Amino acid sequence: MAYTTVDATALKDIKEKIHTGVLPQWVFSNQQIYELELEKIYARTWNFIGHESEIRNPGDFVTRWIVHDPVLLLRDQDGQIRAYLNSCTHRGAQLCVADCGNKKTFTCPYHGWTFNQRGELIGIIAGNKVYGEELDRSQWALRRIPRVETYQGMIFASLNPDVEPLDEFLGGMKWYFDIMLGRTTNGLEVRGVPHRWLIRTNWKISADNFGGDPYHVAMSHRSTVELGISPQDPMYASYGYQIVLENGHGINICTTKDGTTSRPYQGLPEELWPEFEKNLTAEQRDILYRAVVFVGNCFPNLSFVSPMHGTGGPDEPLTSFVNFRTWRPLAPDLIEVCSWCMVDKDASEEFKEASYRSYVGSFGPGGTLEQDDGEIWTRVEDASKGFMVQSKDVHYNNVLNYLMGMGRVEPIEQWRAPGTAYPTCWLDAISRSFYEHWVDQLLSE
Ligand code: FES
Ligand SMILES: [Fe+2]
Repeated sequence: MAYTTVDATALKDIKEKIHTGVLPQWVFSNQQIYELELEKIYARTWNFIGHESEIRNPGDFVTRWIVHDPVLLLRDQDGQIRAYLNSCTHRGAQLCVADCGNKKTFTCPYHGWTFNQRGELIGIIAGNKVYGEELDRSQWALRRIPRVETYQGMIFASLNPDVEPLDEFLGGMKWYFDIMLGRTTNGLEVRGVPHRWLIRTNWKISADNFGGDPYHVAMSHRSTVELGISPQDPMYASYGYQIVLENGHGINICTTKDGTTSRPYQGLPEELWPEFEKNLTAEQRDILYRAVVFVGNCFPNLSFVSPMHGTGGPDEPLTSFVNFRTWRPLAPDLIEVCSWCMVDKDASEEFKEASYRSYVGSFGPGGTLEQDDGEIWTRVEDASKGFMVQSKDVHYNNVLNYLMGMGRVEPIEQWRAPGTAYPTCWLDAISRSFYEHWVDQLLSE
């Protein structure tokens, strides 16, 4: 049996292959790779867990997951954001099972231990009687998630106490995040609650699709162009810039063919434009002015898309929104998507609603583009499990093609923003950098 075992030699072999622009297909379905990813990537890095607007008031909470670690995220009475392992310290039951709400205290459904917003154990049924007064309750407080930091309202958490500061981790991505998240003084807010659904695929397939694959738009999403609910040029996702950033992050800024605007500032309401003057640099404003779509991935699994999309009404202008989503890897071949629709807090209610409808119709769980993507990602996964693909035997030539633009497309020398920018979005530069970073993490001690 020539099935692949994952050891340092196998990982080094993957690394060499990535340097030549190819990737072994078996990494999409291998159990050992999956376990290594949980240990060497997800347990060590920053994970996006929510937005400040979801826990606006004291006592607001949401429950989230960092892969298999349940997280209780809340705002306490003093306005501070806190995150705990959502597991009771008595017998380990999941403490809070609601998705969101507002509470002063959390009582465990198993034996009724109660914790406050600071995680302190403040109530035990028959406490003194069964444990005596000597029980040191402070020993049995909720376990804190070691690190929590925010950027532009985006809340990230890490299970690793020694993780680098969030600022450093995001690096140049901050400059591009600012265009979407920091263009107005009051920033963005989450519209509705995040949608969650399952897709039978590997997390890297979806992360790579958002991060570095505007190429698929011309084929996978062509029907949306024909329907008039996407920009009216099947090649639209090729024009613009692909920007490779540090730590495996990347963003594509799709523009019109000649780089001019289709609708200024992605059709954002005119009353917000003075805000862009105030909050963005001239370079950032120029990008926002001309952009049709922003799409990318923040390593490992926080993807985003801010497209212009319609709901199909005649003459209805395309409307933009900002959509952040995480691909939670439940198994090598299964992800849970968690998807946040975000809009500028200062936009009118009418615009916010149009923006939300545009999101639901395109990238919501039943949206057109979402269905196109989910279906094809499942087919990639299903086709990556068989003997030929899993085999180490070179005879089968088990690698996939990440060669687009390699050695052919040169970076833009005068790019006045972070990262290495290329003058097209049809390019595998971000994908190659994503996988290089990925394999380096797997190889790290
Ligand atoms: S497990 Fe929570 S009170 Fe027993
Ligand atoms: Fe897509």
